[in-house]
Amino acid sequence: MIAASMTGFAQEQPPIVPGAVWTDTDGNPINAHGGGMLYYAGTWYWYGEIKKGDTWRVPGSNWENNRVNAGGVSCYSSKDLLHWKYESVALAPDKNDSTADLHISKVIERPKVIYNKKTGKFVMWMHIDSQDYSYARAGVAVGDKPEGPFRYIRSERPNGNMARDMTIFQDDDGKAYHFYSSEENQTMHICELTDDYLSHTTNDHRILVQRAREAPAVCKYNSRFYLFTSGCTGWSPNAASYAVADSIMGTWTEHDNPCRGTDADSTFHAQSTFVLPVPGETGAFIFMADRWNKNDLEISRYIWLPLIFNPEGMPHVQWKDEWKLSGITGN
Ligand code: DGJ
Repeated sequence: MIAASMTGFAQEQPPIVPGAVWTDTDGNPINAHGGGMLYYAGTWYWYGEIKKGDTWRVPGSNWENNRVNAGGVSCYSSKDLLHWKYESVALAPDKNDSTADLHISKVIERPKVIYNKKTGKFVMWMHIDSQDYSYARAGVAVGDKPEGPFRYIRSERPNGNMARDMTIFQDDDGKAYHFYSSEENQTMHICELTDDYLSHTTNDHRILVQRAREAPAVCKYNSRFYLFTSGCTGWSPNAASYAVADSIMGTWTEHDNPCRGTDADSTFHAQSTFVLPVPGETGAFIFMADRWNKNDLEISRYIWLPLIFNPEGMPHVQWKDEWKLSGITGN
């Protein structure tokens, strides 16, 4: 468990420095943007978008449509959330077939992986799009090992709905839910996945109707569900907000920005991507976000900060120039 392993190295534990260049155990900058975490068999796996090479504006765009060639999905592993070993390109892009969902000319964003106990498979969902973002679909891939390789299955519009920014939330009862920005990014949807996690059910619920939120990241604390989102301003940061629900398919109540401290009004110049529960530590979460560099997306950075709940169950994300995991685990 993390608590035990953290106790072991608490003394020499390096700090987490949000926004710094984070390198893997080979010394290369970690390339895993819009990412998500899987905790499996005592190891964390970090999956993210590989953004490599030149950034350019898609010709004819009347908005900040900057991009790099789709690089697929990377996978890194760690035993302590501090030292990250590069594992693989878990899902490779397609360099040849320009009609393929995974072609380098397409958009592959916000990959999230969960493990299905019933099938023994690792399932990756991601946002798949065309350069102009009109395709608006969810793609799914499956693997036998956490580090992949993942086999791409298909993309779809869940129940016919547009699907862009997304996350997957796996509940304690094994049910999994796809949160996705839909209806031209105006309304968020939550759709329950099938038991094998490979398809959508028709249990598809509209929330944050006409609120124009994206970058969803979800956690559960004290039997309540918390959804963190950003506004829709391309690669430019804006203020986060969150919503709370007693039941995942129930009523979500909106609240203002949970961020506190320097640059809280721009989510610390970043955009949410995942909230990681620290196993074995009640109420300890890490808020994970991307500080996009819209002119050179490859050198976008990562912002991780402690997410703390106050006694009323309200979450706060406090800016810290640097912090130690031991500070939130008590070890
Ligand atoms: C904001 C989204 O959150 C990102 O994942 C990406 O799609 C950019 N928009 C593209 O501008």
